[in-house]
Amino acid sequence: MRFIFNRVQLLALTLLGLAISGAQAEIRQTSVWWLPRNVTMFGHEIDFIFYVILILTGVTAVAVFSTMIYFIVKYRARPGVSAIHSHGNNTLEVIWTGIPVFIFLALAIYGNEQWTQMRLKTPPADALPVAVIGEQFGWNVRYPGADGKLAKMTASKVTKENPFGVDPADPAGLDDFTTYGELVFPVERPIRLYLGSKDVIHAFYVPEFRLYQDMVPGRIYDFVWLKAEQTGKFQLACNQLCGQGHYKMFGKLSVVPQGEYEAWAKGKAPQPTAAKETPTVPVVMAGR
Ligand code: CUA
Repeated sequence: MRFIFNRVQLLALTLLGLAISGAQAEIRQTSVWWLPRNVTMFGHEIDFIFYVILILTGVTAVAVFSTMIYFIVKYRARPGVSAIHSHGNNTLEVIWTGIPVFIFLALAIYGNEQWTQMRLKTPPADALPVAVIGEQFGWNVRYPGADGKLAKMTASKVTKENPFGVDPADPAGLDDFTTYGELVFPVERPIRLYLGSKDVIHAFYVPEFRLYQDMVPGRIYDFVWLKAEQTGKFQLACNQLCGQGHYKMFGKLSVVPQGEYEAWAKGKAPQPTAAKETPTVPVVMAGR
């Protein structure tokens, strides 16, 4: 049997692969070898429990494997030495069952408490509502206008033309503005997300936010909220294989100071100016 590549070609391919992965790494802003930096409030608890579990399992693995190797060497078969017949030790059994039970219970209770804080409590009333509806293959984003309110979204009304499932006459939505694949969040302000999908299952995923939420069509998720504590530029990546274009389904997300956000929102919202100009248009027309 012949190999398809010779050694030189394989080496070249390997180097090319390394070069590409090096270039890929540039896309991520922070550490590629470890967790990306955390910029949200809830991220501290998530990272904390991650490190606790890592240390617990790491110490256990080292302890178990070194004991095992030590025993393998110490009690190896040797000519003239008879085997030891052990019938176990009840005290040891109770200890090494009791400790893991305690650890697992503690982790479960702590994790449950954090999850309750993140997803089961009502988001703060002063949170900025932002709607994000996934589609093959991009993100429809909707922001409230000056009234701070988004139009009411109804999952059953979501269509191709109406990705947010809103009533066009809803007064709360008249000053809303939309973007495609562009999100700007003010720093240090709670953001309440309204997540949904137009077609298939997508997922809202920002590693630096330690936030992941599937978006299943037919539902509007209104319980996800976050508070970014640092500014920066991030990538919103879809994290459910949703079709051939899944790989390119990303959005630009930046966290900026409040003033910068307001300026951006002002520039994005054409409705208030349009609404002000609307009455003058018929007057001009009538004057002609
Ligand atoms: Cu949407 Cu993958």
